[in-house]
Amino acid sequence: KVKLAVFASGTGSNFVTIAKEVAAGNLDCEISLLVCDKQDAKVLEKAKTFGVSTFVFNPKDYTGKAEFEQEILVKLQEFEIDWLILAGYMRLIGQTLLAAYPSRIVNIHPSLLPAFPGKDAIGQALAYGVKITGVTVHFVDEGMDTGQIIDQEQIRINDGEDRESLQRRIQEIEHRLFPEVIRNLCVKQYVR
Ligand code: GAR
Repeated sequence: KVKLAVFASGTGSNFVTIAKEVAAGNLDCEISLLVCDKQDAKVLEKAKTFGVSTFVFNPKDYTGKAEFEQEILVKLQEFEIDWLILAGYMRLIGQTLLAAYPSRIVNIHPSLLPAFPGKDAIGQALAYGVKITGVTVHFVDEGMDTGQIIDQEQIRINDGEDRESLQRRIQEIEHRLFPEVIRNLCVKQYVR
C-alpha cells in the first residue's frame, strides 16, 4: 500500500477528510504518520481518533530547518513513507525534504494560485475584492506556493460574503478536491 505522511499545523479538517476516505476504502493508501509542528494543534486529537502515529516537534528546539527536517526524514524513512501531503502545514519545506522526496510532496492552498500565496489567502482575496477565488493542489518546490499545479477549482464570492462563509465554502471544495487528487496519485502507482 502507498503510505502517506500528512503534515499539518492546525485544525485538521483536511486530515479528517482524508482519513475518513481511507477508512471507507475509497483511497488505495494509508496515512502512516502525522507530522505536526505545534504541540497544541487540534489535528493531534484527530490523529489519535483515527489511530494515526504522530511526530510532533517544536521548531524552537532546533538550530534551524535543516536540523528538524533531518529528524522528520528519519521518521519518514522509518515508516517507509511514499508521499508527503501538506494539509495546512504553515511552514516552507526545505532542501532536506525536497531532496529526499522530489515531486512527492503536494500541498493544498485556499486560493487560485498564483494569486494570494502565503498566509491567510482567504483574507487576502476578500481584502482585494476579487469575485472569484478557489482552491489549488500543487507539487511543492522551494518557493512559497509556487510548484506545478495539479488541480484547481474555482468559487464565486457572493456580494457581501463574510470570511466565515467563504472559508466554509472553500473548505467544502478542499474536502472534495484533495482526496480526489490523492486518489489519482495512488492509482498512478508512483511508489518508490
Ligand atoms: C486549509 O484551508 C488549507 O488550504 C490552508 O490551511 C487550511 C487548513 O485547514 N493552507 C494554507 O493556507 C497553506 N498556505 P485544516 O487544518 O482544517 O485542514
